[in-house]
Amino acid sequence: MRSRIILRAVLLALAGPSLAAGPGDTIVAARQASMKEMAAAARAIAEMFDGKRAYEPAAFKAAADTLSARAGGLTGEFPQGTLGAPSAARPEIDQARPEFEALARHIGRLADALAIKAGNAPPGITADMRMDGGSLLGKRPGAAEADPARMPAEHLLHLILQDCTSCHSKFRQKQQ
Ligand code: HEC
Repeated sequence: MRSRIILRAVLLALAGPSLAAGPGDTIVAARQASMKEMAAAARAIAEMFDGKRAYEPAAFKAAADTLSARAGGLTGEFPQGTLGAPSAARPEIDQARPEFEALARHIGRLADALAIKAGNAPPGITADMRMDGGSLLGKRPGAAEADPARMPAEHLLHLILQDCTSCHSKFRQKQQ
């Protein structure tokens, strides 16, 4: 009888909230911070292309490097046991790892290509950095997808933003 009570206490201690609130919390906080950094970087680049913020090659490169570094680390930031409330990461990530990781790899490739372009960015935004009104987007998406290095920077940014949205619509809990 007594040993059963002790055993129960031990099991309770193992399953209790102190464990759940441990390392998982740090991982969740870190990935949310890295998501926020990606959001700030993407916004900075979008605003430069939209003329809402002064274009600076160095700032463009810094933001693109942040996107590339954060996107590249994405897959490792969602380990088992850190999904579901209170995090906004859906538990479904665990059942759809290949799809989740493919999205992460895709955005990583695009962000790497953008960072390389930003590393050679001219002092002012040139026409060839602009989205090419349709010849790449729409008509031959397959060809463009095959080689992000050949896409204009603005087009890369738009594809990156599409990946943010695709992943959030599947794997992020709706905000209240
Ligand atoms: C492969 C999936 C995936 C991609 C790609 C992705 N996100 Fe997320 N994002 C998530 C998930 C899942 C969460 C919820 C994380 C949590 O609460 O633990 C999230 C949360 C966020 C948050 C909220 C962070 C917070 O403070 O709670 C922001 C902002 C965000 N993402 C921005 C972006 C931006 C911008 C991009 C693209 C540049 C992007 N995300 C790409 C999956 C993704």
